[in-house]
Amino acid sequence: MLVSAKEMLQKAKAGHYAVGQFNINNLEWTKAILTAAEETKSPVILGVSEGAGKYMCGYKTVVGMVNGMLEEMNITVPVALHLDHGSYDGCMKCIEAGFSSVMFDGSHYPIEENVAKTKELVAICAEKGLSLEAEVGAIGGEEDGVVGMGECADPNECKMVADLGVDFLAAGIGNIHGKYPANWQGLSFETLDAIQQLTGDLPLVLHGGTGIPDDMIKRAIDLGVSKINVNTECQLVFAEATRKYIEAGKDLEGKGFDPRKLLKPGAEAIVAKVKEKMELFGSVGKAE
Ligand code: 13P
Repeated sequence: MLVSAKEMLQKAKAGHYAVGQFNINNLEWTKAILTAAEETKSPVILGVSEGAGKYMCGYKTVVGMVNGMLEEMNITVPVALHLDHGSYDGCMKCIEAGFSSVMFDGSHYPIEENVAKTKELVAICAEKGLSLEAEVGAIGGEEDGVVGMGECADPNECKMVADLGVDFLAAGIGNIHGKYPANWQGLSFETLDAIQQLTGDLPLVLHGGTGIPDDMIKRAIDLGVSKINVNTECQLVFAEATRKYIEAGKDLEGKGFDPRKLLKPGAEAIVAKVKEKMELFGSVGKAE
């Protein structure tokens, strides 16, 4: 059964480790991430962006697939199904469809509007038993070929949003989605420290996990990060393993064109990458 991410992240914050959110795109992705979580006895959060939700034929399809897998794969570790960077409407649709957690990303609104909309969702999620992530300070990333630098959130605005009763908070600390540019300045630990001092026990979320050096990840966890989002890195290893298979001409040998064979190296690469991240984040064995 899907669970809210609230308890697993409170435990992570208290235990000084982080739970990974790994984004899913299809059945292979989901199966690979659940396999890694079960084998390492790690709690896990499956992230679904609005685009990926659409790609997978809508949120109800995603809920049906994930619930079916939890049962058929005999998954025993805590699993949350979480909307990533949701709009207000997207959150409402996921709540309706049976997600166990949602992120409302109001970071592009003026802070007053972000607060007002987040507040409404706090009440709705509390009533339905879902966990809610909010965002302050936009996270950079590539848009139309231009890589925007990550903003640093205002710690006082973070406190305003934290005080609304959200379950965990994503705050920009110079992080970026996708690959980091060569001239990236690194994470702002000063900002993270100031945010944690004002928000206390609230679990903090680090987006853009791909490409952040291991020592920065560990320092971020020490400063209160309890959830780390990884997406691009799984896509890169999947593509690399699939390319190798094709380039080696394996699809032309016997029934190597069978999708169950063709997609296997990529899926195995995701399992290995997710396990590596769980080890780094310290979540291995925390579901036992
Ligand atoms: P990356 O694609 O950079 O790993 O970021 C993932 C993310 O933050 C999803 O919200």
